[in-house]
Amino acid sequence: MTSGEAHLEVLPSADWAAAVAARLVARLAAHRNLRICLPTGETPAPLYTAIVAAEHRGDVSFAEATLVMLDEWLGLPPGDPARGDEMLRRELIGRLRVPPARFVAIDVDGPDPAAAAARHDREAAGLDLAILGLGINGHVGFNEPGSGPQDTTRVVEVAATTGEIASTRYGASVTPHAGITIGLARLLEAREAWLLVTGERKAEMLYRALHRPESRDCPASYLRRHARLTVFADEAAAEMLPDAGARRSPGPSIPTHPVI
Ligand code: F6R
Repeated sequence: MTSGEAHLEVLPSADWAAAVAARLVARLAAHRNLRICLPTGETPAPLYTAIVAAEHRGDVSFAEATLVMLDEWLGLPPGDPARGDEMLRRELIGRLRVPPARFVAIDVDGPDPAAAAARHDREAAGLDLAILGLGINGHVGFNEPGSGPQDTTRVVEVAATTGEIASTRYGASVTPHAGITIGLARLLEAREAWLLVTGERKAEMLYRALHRPESRDCPASYLRRHARLTVFADEAAAEMLPDAGARRSPGPSIPTHPVI
């Protein structure tokens, strides 16, 4: 994997979701059959609301697109409100007027999670766009600290803090301890990657991800190896980045490799 340049877009918090949605609308207008992997969580929720509104206005269609889940909990029953498939249906897919051509959930209900991960790894090959969030501990998907750039889609243990979010924030029936995630190797192979980061509480980890030596302590740091990575940050998340004010969108690309 050759090293690339991350393009950083710093957006006012109030405009963040609409601006990122407009970018996705443009991508889909140019390539109706995009294969996109999607995260769940707090960060993308307003983006999904903006995308649904755009679809209802007729500005965009997912009718030929394939939506692939980035990760999913193991141990939560079907229909659990914290399940990733439930969240994506609730916030995006179930609200579209025309559903996507394919929605590729992760089969976590079968008897063999490792086999399900291997199947999802094949689905994750050839992604056009990997849309990602940043964990407060530096994770991407469920690629928790300790994960590396060669990791494929696999069954993982999730950090205790990650599992707790499922119960405290989303009302999971049990606190999950494991999941299946698309691995960094596949994410780095996607034609394009977007890292979505909002809020002051992510500021330090975003700084580490972009400006500290890449390390398994911060798996998101490996995203700098991606040849086409765009970081969509709001002003609060970008506050620790050098010259973030000067890089308000539209801004210049910043070299992120070699490490500075
Ligand atoms: C969820 C996922 C996670 C989140 C990350 C940030 O599918 O892949 O890596 O993107 O934990 O979560 P929020 O956006 O809730 O802060």
